[in-house]
Amino acid sequence: MVPRRPAFAPINLLAVKLLITGAAGMLGTDMRAAAAEAGHQVVACSRADLDITNREAVAAEVAAAQPDAIINCAAYTNVDGAESDPDGAGAVNASGPRHLAQAATACGAWLIHISTDYVFDGTKTLPYLESDATAPRSVYGATKLLGEQAVALAAPDNHTIVRTSWLFGAAGPCFPATMLRLAREGKALTVVDDQVGCPTFTGHLAGALVRLASVARIPGVLHVAASGECSWYQFAVEIMRETATPVQVTPCNTDQFPRPARRPAYSVLRSARPDAPVLPDWHDGLHQYLKVRELA
Ligand SMILES: NC(=O)c1ccc[n+]([C@@H]2O[C@H](COP(=O)([O-])OP(=O)(O)OC[C@H]3O[C@@H](n4cnc5c(N)ncnc54)[C@H](OP(=O)(O)O)[C@@H]3O)[C@@H](O)[C@H]2O)c1
Repeated sequence: MVPRRPAFAPINLLAVKLLITGAAGMLGTDMRAAAAEAGHQVVACSRADLDITNREAVAAEVAAAQPDAIINCAAYTNVDGAESDPDGAGAVNASGPRHLAQAATACGAWLIHISTDYVFDGTKTLPYLESDATAPRSVYGATKLLGEQAVALAAPDNHTIVRTSWLFGAAGPCFPATMLRLAREGKALTVVDDQVGCPTFTGHLAGALVRLASVARIPGVLHVAASGECSWYQFAVEIMRETATPVQVTPCNTDQFPRPARRPAYSVLRSARPDAPVLPDWHDGLHQYLKVRELA
Protein backbone atom coordinates (compact mmCIF):
# COMPACT_ATOMS: atom_id res chain seq x y z
CA MET A 1 0.00 0.00 0.00
CA VAL A 2 1.28 3.49 -0.89
CA PRO A 3 1.85 5.51 2.30
CA ARG A 4 -0.35 8.61 2.43
CA ARG A 5 1.40 11.95 2.56
CA PRO A 6 0.72 13.87 5.73
CA ALA A 7 -1.85 16.58 4.99
CA PHE A 8 0.64 19.34 5.80
CA ALA A 9 3.33 18.18 3.35
CA PRO A 10 3.69 20.50 0.34
CA ILE A 11 2.66 18.54 -2.75
CA ASN A 12 4.24 19.95 -5.87
CA LEU A 13 3.43 17.73 -8.81
CA LEU A 14 4.74 20.38 -11.17
CA ALA A 15 8.33 20.50 -9.96
CA VAL A 16 10.70 20.29 -12.92
CA LYS A 17 14.43 20.45 -13.50
CA LEU A 18 15.53 23.79 -14.97
CA LEU A 19 18.94 24.52 -16.41
CA ILE A 20 19.68 28.27 -16.37
CA THR A 21 22.49 29.72 -18.47
CA GLY A 22 23.97 33.15 -17.74
CA ALA A 23 22.88 32.41 -14.17
CA ALA A 24 25.15 35.04 -12.61
CA GLY A 25 23.73 37.86 -14.74
CA MET A 26 21.00 40.32 -13.75
CA LEU A 27 18.05 38.25 -15.01
CA GLY A 28 19.83 34.94 -14.35
CA THR A 29 20.18 35.78 -10.65
CA ASP A 30 16.46 36.48 -10.25
CA MET A 31 15.67 33.38 -12.34
CA ARG A 32 17.60 31.17 -9.94
CA ALA A 33 15.71 32.63 -6.98
CA ALA A 34 12.28 32.39 -8.65
CA ALA A 35 12.84 28.81 -9.82
CA ALA A 36 14.02 27.68 -6.39
CA GLU A 37 11.14 29.50 -4.72
CA ALA A 38 8.68 27.65 -6.97
CA GLY A 39 10.17 24.36 -5.79
CA HIS A 40 11.98 23.45 -9.00
CA GLN A 41 15.32 21.73 -9.20
CA VAL A 42 17.85 24.22 -10.57
CA VAL A 43 21.08 23.65 -12.47
CA ALA A 44 22.58 27.14 -12.47
CA CYS A 45 25.35 27.71 -15.00
CA SER A 46 27.28 30.96 -14.88
CA ARG A 47 29.57 31.82 -17.76
CA ALA A 48 32.46 30.22 -15.85
CA ASP A 49 30.44 26.98 -15.60
CA LEU A 50 29.22 26.93 -19.19
CA ASP A 51 30.32 29.06 -22.13
CA ILE A 52 27.41 28.82 -24.56
CA THR A 53 29.67 29.59 -27.53
CA ASN A 54 31.27 26.17 -26.98
CA ARG A 55 29.02 23.69 -28.81
CA GLU A 56 30.59 20.55 -27.33
CA ALA A 57 30.46 21.92 -23.79
CA VAL A 58 26.78 22.85 -24.19
CA ALA A 59 25.91 19.41 -25.59
CA ALA A 60 27.78 17.65 -22.75
CA GLU A 61 26.30 19.83 -19.97
CA VAL A 62 22.72 19.44 -21.22
CA ALA A 63 23.10 15.69 -21.83
CA ALA A 64 24.49 15.23 -18.31
CA ALA A 65 21.84 17.39 -16.60
CA GLN A 66 18.85 16.07 -18.61
CA PRO A 67 16.76 19.16 -17.74
CA ASP A 68 13.04 19.43 -18.46
CA ALA A 69 13.64 22.97 -19.62
CA ILE A 70 16.54 25.34 -20.33
CA ILE A 71 16.24 29.07 -19.74
CA ASN A 72 18.86 30.99 -21.68
CA CYS A 73 19.70 34.19 -19.81
CA ALA A 74 23.22 34.34 -21.27
CA ALA A 75 23.90 37.06 -23.79
CA TYR A 76 26.33 39.67 -25.05
CA THR A 77 24.47 42.65 -23.63
CA ASN A 78 26.91 45.51 -24.22
CA VAL A 79 24.77 47.21 -26.86
CA ASP A 80 27.34 49.88 -27.75
CA GLY A 81 30.31 47.50 -27.50
CA ALA A 82 28.71 45.13 -30.00
CA GLU A 83 29.00 47.77 -32.76
CA SER A 84 32.79 47.27 -32.82
CA ASP A 85 32.68 43.57 -31.91
CA PRO A 86 30.09 41.95 -34.18
CA ASP A 87 31.84 38.57 -34.15
CA GLY A 88 31.95 38.47 -30.35
CA ALA A 89 28.30 39.50 -30.11
CA GLY A 90 27.32 37.01 -32.82
CA ALA A 91 29.09 34.13 -31.10
CA VAL A 92 27.11 34.63 -27.87
CA ASN A 93 23.79 35.95 -29.22
CA ALA A 94 23.43 33.84 -32.38
CA SER A 95 25.66 30.74 -32.16
CA GLY A 96 25.10 30.23 -28.41
CA PRO A 97 21.31 29.93 -28.72
CA ARG A 98 21.76 27.56 -31.67
CA HIS A 99 23.93 25.26 -29.53
CA LEU A 100 21.36 25.36 -26.74
CA ALA A 101 18.49 24.67 -29.13
CA GLN A 102 20.31 21.68 -30.64
CA ALA A 103 21.09 20.31 -27.19
CA ALA A 104 17.53 20.90 -25.96
CA THR A 105 16.09 19.05 -28.94
CA ALA A 106 18.53 16.17 -28.50
CA CYS A 107 17.41 15.57 -24.91
CA GLY A 108 13.72 16.48 -25.29
CA ALA A 109 13.92 19.66 -23.22
CA TRP A 110 11.90 22.86 -23.67
CA LEU A 111 14.00 25.96 -24.41
CA ILE A 112 13.06 29.43 -23.19
CA HIS A 113 15.25 31.90 -25.05
CA ILE A 114 15.30 35.57 -24.01
CA SER A 115 15.30 38.17 -26.77
CA THR A 116 14.80 41.90 -26.99
CA ASP A 117 12.73 44.86 -28.18
CA TYR A 118 15.87 45.96 -30.08
CA VAL A 119 14.92 43.54 -32.90
CA PHE A 120 12.48 46.31 -33.96
CA ASP A 121 13.37 49.58 -35.66
CA GLY A 122 11.11 51.68 -33.44
CA THR A 123 9.25 53.50 -36.20
CA LYS A 124 5.81 52.36 -34.99
CA THR A 125 3.75 54.56 -32.69
CA LEU A 126 1.63 51.74 -31.30
CA PRO A 127 2.93 48.79 -29.28
CA TYR A 128 4.86 46.10 -31.13
CA LEU A 129 3.11 42.74 -31.36
CA GLU A 130 4.67 39.34 -32.05
CA SER A 131 3.51 39.54 -35.68
CA ASP A 132 5.27 42.85 -36.42
CA ALA A 133 8.17 42.88 -38.86
CA THR A 134 11.63 42.93 -37.30
CA ALA A 135 14.30 45.38 -38.49
CA PRO A 136 17.09 45.81 -35.97
CA ARG A 137 19.06 49.08 -36.03
CA SER A 138 22.10 47.82 -34.12
CA VAL A 139 24.57 44.95 -34.21
CA TYR A 140 23.22 43.83 -30.84
CA GLY A 141 19.65 43.74 -32.21
CA ALA A 142 20.77 41.97 -35.39
CA THR A 143 22.65 39.27 -33.49
CA LYS A 144 19.71 38.77 -31.12
CA LEU A 145 17.43 38.33 -34.14
CA LEU A 146 19.83 35.73 -35.57
CA GLY A 147 19.61 33.96 -32.21
CA GLU A 148 15.81 33.88 -32.45
CA GLN A 149 16.02 32.42 -35.95
CA ALA A 150 18.55 29.79 -34.87
CA VAL A 151 16.32 28.70 -32.00
CA ALA A 152 13.25 28.43 -34.23
CA LEU A 153 15.22 26.30 -36.70
CA ALA A 154 16.96 23.95 -34.27
CA ALA A 155 14.14 23.57 -31.73
CA PRO A 156 11.05 23.98 -33.92
CA ASP A 157 8.60 22.22 -31.59
CA ASN A 158 10.16 22.90 -28.20
CA HIS A 159 10.86 26.59 -27.72
CA THR A 160 9.49 29.87 -26.45
CA ILE A 161 11.29 33.03 -27.58
CA VAL A 162 10.50 35.67 -24.98
CA ARG A 163 11.08 39.23 -26.13
CA THR A 164 11.37 41.64 -23.25
CA SER A 165 12.64 45.18 -22.76
CA TRP A 166 14.51 47.71 -20.64
CA LEU A 167 15.40 45.28 -17.85
CA PHE A 168 16.35 46.44 -14.38
CA GLY A 169 17.02 44.31 -11.34
CA ALA A 170 18.80 44.19 -8.02
CA ALA A 171 21.59 41.96 -9.31
CA GLY A 172 22.82 44.08 -12.14
CA PRO A 173 24.09 47.42 -13.18
CA CYS A 174 20.93 48.99 -14.57
CA PHE A 175 19.30 52.33 -15.28
CA PRO A 176 17.83 53.02 -11.80
CA ALA A 177 21.13 52.07 -10.13
CA THR A 178 23.08 54.37 -12.46
CA MET A 179 20.66 57.28 -12.00
CA LEU A 180 20.74 56.96 -8.20
CA ARG A 181 24.55 56.75 -8.18
CA LEU A 182 24.88 59.86 -10.35
CA ALA A 183 22.39 61.72 -8.14
CA ARG A 184 24.33 60.67 -5.01
CA GLU A 185 27.52 61.98 -6.63
CA GLY A 186 25.78 65.31 -7.15
CA LYS A 187 25.84 65.02 -10.96
CA ALA A 188 23.27 66.83 -13.08
CA LEU A 189 20.87 64.38 -14.70
CA THR A 190 20.09 64.93 -18.37
CA VAL A 191 18.09 62.05 -19.77
CA VAL A 192 16.69 61.24 -23.21
CA ASP A 193 12.97 61.85 -23.57
CA ASP A 194 12.49 60.62 -27.14
CA GLN A 195 12.99 56.88 -26.58
CA VAL A 196 9.90 55.17 -25.21
CA GLY A 197 9.65 51.62 -23.90
CA CYS A 198 8.55 49.37 -21.03
CA PRO A 199 11.00 49.26 -18.09
CA THR A 200 10.68 45.68 -16.87
CA PHE A 201 11.67 44.47 -13.39
CA THR A 202 13.63 41.21 -13.61
CA GLY A 203 11.90 39.91 -10.48
CA HIS A 204 8.52 40.14 -12.26
CA LEU A 205 9.88 38.67 -15.51
CA ALA A 206 11.59 35.78 -13.72
CA GLY A 207 8.31 34.65 -12.12
CA ALA A 208 6.62 34.59 -15.53
CA LEU A 209 9.55 32.70 -17.10
CA VAL A 210 9.40 30.00 -14.43
CA ARG A 211 5.74 29.39 -15.26
CA LEU A 212 6.49 29.37 -19.00
CA ALA A 213 9.18 26.76 -18.40
CA SER A 214 6.98 24.49 -16.29
CA VAL A 215 3.19 24.71 -16.08
CA ALA A 216 2.32 27.07 -18.94
CA ARG A 217 4.47 26.39 -21.98
CA ILE A 218 3.65 28.54 -24.99
CA PRO A 219 5.39 27.76 -28.29
CA GLY A 220 6.83 30.43 -30.58
CA VAL A 221 7.51 34.12 -30.03
CA LEU A 222 6.01 35.86 -27.02
CA HIS A 223 6.24 39.46 -25.86
CA VAL A 224 6.59 39.71 -22.08
CA ALA A 225 7.32 43.19 -20.71
CA ALA A 226 5.96 45.42 -17.97
CA SER A 227 2.58 47.06 -18.49
CA GLY A 228 2.56 50.78 -19.22
CA GLU A 229 5.17 52.78 -21.08
CA CYS A 230 7.46 55.77 -20.52
CA SER A 231 10.57 57.52 -21.80
CA TRP A 232 13.95 57.17 -20.09
CA TYR A 233 13.43 60.74 -18.81
CA GLN A 234 10.05 59.88 -17.30
CA PHE A 235 11.57 56.76 -15.76
CA ALA A 236 14.38 58.82 -14.19
CA VAL A 237 11.90 61.36 -12.79
CA GLU A 238 9.89 58.56 -11.18
CA ILE A 239 13.03 56.98 -9.68
CA MET A 240 13.92 60.29 -8.03
CA ARG A 241 10.34 60.89 -6.87
CA GLU A 242 10.00 57.40 -5.32
CA THR A 243 13.30 57.74 -3.47
CA ALA A 244 12.68 61.39 -2.53
CA THR A 245 16.03 62.27 -4.08
CA PRO A 246 16.29 66.05 -4.42
CA VAL A 247 17.80 66.35 -7.88
CA GLN A 248 16.73 68.07 -11.05
CA VAL A 249 16.23 65.85 -14.07
CA THR A 250 16.41 67.58 -17.46
CA PRO A 251 15.00 66.04 -20.67
CA CYS A 252 17.08 65.87 -23.84
CA ASN A 253 16.92 64.30 -27.29
CA THR A 254 18.83 61.27 -28.52
CA ASP A 255 20.90 63.41 -30.92
CA GLN A 256 22.18 65.41 -27.92
CA PHE A 257 23.46 62.15 -26.44
CA PRO A 258 25.15 60.29 -29.32
CA ARG A 259 26.00 56.63 -28.70
CA PRO A 260 27.69 54.08 -31.00
CA ALA A 261 24.53 51.94 -31.35
CA ARG A 262 21.26 53.27 -32.71
CA ARG A 263 18.26 52.51 -30.50
CA PRO A 264 14.59 52.25 -31.46
CA ALA A 265 12.67 55.46 -30.66
CA TYR A 266 9.58 53.50 -29.67
CA SER A 267 9.79 49.87 -28.60
CA VAL A 268 6.80 49.22 -26.37
CA LEU A 269 6.04 45.49 -26.44
CA ARG A 270 2.57 44.01 -26.08
CA SER A 271 1.34 40.50 -26.71
CA ALA A 272 -1.48 39.61 -29.07
CA ARG A 273 -1.52 36.09 -27.65
CA PRO A 274 -4.41 35.42 -25.26
CA ASP A 275 -2.36 33.03 -23.12
CA ALA A 276 0.60 35.42 -22.65
CA PRO A 277 1.57 36.34 -19.10
CA VAL A 278 0.75 39.93 -18.15
CA LEU A 279 3.36 41.64 -15.98
CA PRO A 280 2.60 44.42 -13.49
CA ASP A 281 3.00 48.06 -14.47
CA TRP A 282 6.56 49.42 -14.53
CA HIS A 283 5.77 51.68 -11.53
CA ASP A 284 5.12 48.49 -9.50
CA GLY A 285 8.35 47.01 -10.84
CA LEU A 286 10.28 50.10 -9.78
CA HIS A 287 8.68 50.01 -6.34
CA GLN A 288 9.62 46.33 -5.92
CA TYR A 289 13.17 47.00 -7.10
CA LEU A 290 13.58 49.83 -4.59
CA LYS A 291 12.15 47.63 -1.83
CA VAL A 292 14.61 44.82 -2.62
CA ARG A 293 17.42 47.37 -2.54
CA GLU A 294 15.95 48.79 0.69
CA LEU A 295 15.57 52.22 -0.88
CA ALA A 296 11.77 52.38 -0.52
N1 LIG B 1 19.29 44.39 -19.95
C1 LIG B 1 18.30 44.77 -20.75
O1 LIG B 1 17.88 45.93 -20.72
C2 LIG B 1 17.64 43.78 -21.68
C3 LIG B 1 16.56 44.20 -22.45
C4 LIG B 1 15.93 43.28 -23.29
C5 LIG B 1 16.39 41.99 -23.36
N2 LIG B 1 17.46 41.61 -22.63
C6 LIG B 1 17.92 40.23 -22.72
O2 LIG B 1 17.71 39.61 -21.46
C7 LIG B 1 18.67 38.59 -21.24
C8 LIG B 1 19.35 38.78 -19.90
O3 LIG B 1 20.03 40.00 -19.90
P1 LIG B 1 20.64 40.66 -18.58
O4 LIG B 1 20.19 42.05 -18.56
O5 LIG B 1 20.41 39.78 -17.41
O6 LIG B 1 22.19 40.65 -18.99
P2 LIG B 1 23.49 40.47 -18.12
O7 LIG B 1 23.29 40.93 -16.72
O8 LIG B 1 24.59 41.05 -18.94
O9 LIG B 1 23.65 38.89 -18.08
C9 LIG B 1 24.10 38.16 -19.17
C10 LIG B 1 24.96 37.06 -18.64
O10 LIG B 1 25.43 36.27 -19.73
C11 LIG B 1 26.78 35.94 -19.46
N3 LIG B 1 27.49 35.57 -20.66
C12 LIG B 1 28.09 36.38 -21.57
N4 LIG B 1 28.70 35.64 -22.52
C13 LIG B 1 28.46 34.34 -22.19
C14 LIG B 1 28.84 33.11 -22.78
N5 LIG B 1 29.60 33.06 -23.89
N6 LIG B 1 28.43 31.97 -22.20
C15 LIG B 1 27.70 32.00 -21.06
N7 LIG B 1 27.32 33.14 -20.45
C16 LIG B 1 27.71 34.30 -21.03
C17 LIG B 1 27.35 37.17 -18.79
O11 LIG B 1 28.53 36.84 -18.10
P3 LIG B 1 29.68 37.96 -17.93
O12 LIG B 1 29.05 39.03 -17.10
O13 LIG B 1 30.77 37.21 -17.23
O14 LIG B 1 30.03 38.41 -19.32
C18 LIG B 1 26.20 37.56 -17.87
O15 LIG B 1 26.29 36.91 -16.63
C19 LIG B 1 19.61 38.67 -22.45
O16 LIG B 1 19.19 37.74 -23.42
C20 LIG B 1 19.38 40.07 -22.99
O17 LIG B 1 19.68 40.15 -24.37
C21 LIG B 1 18.10 42.47 -21.77
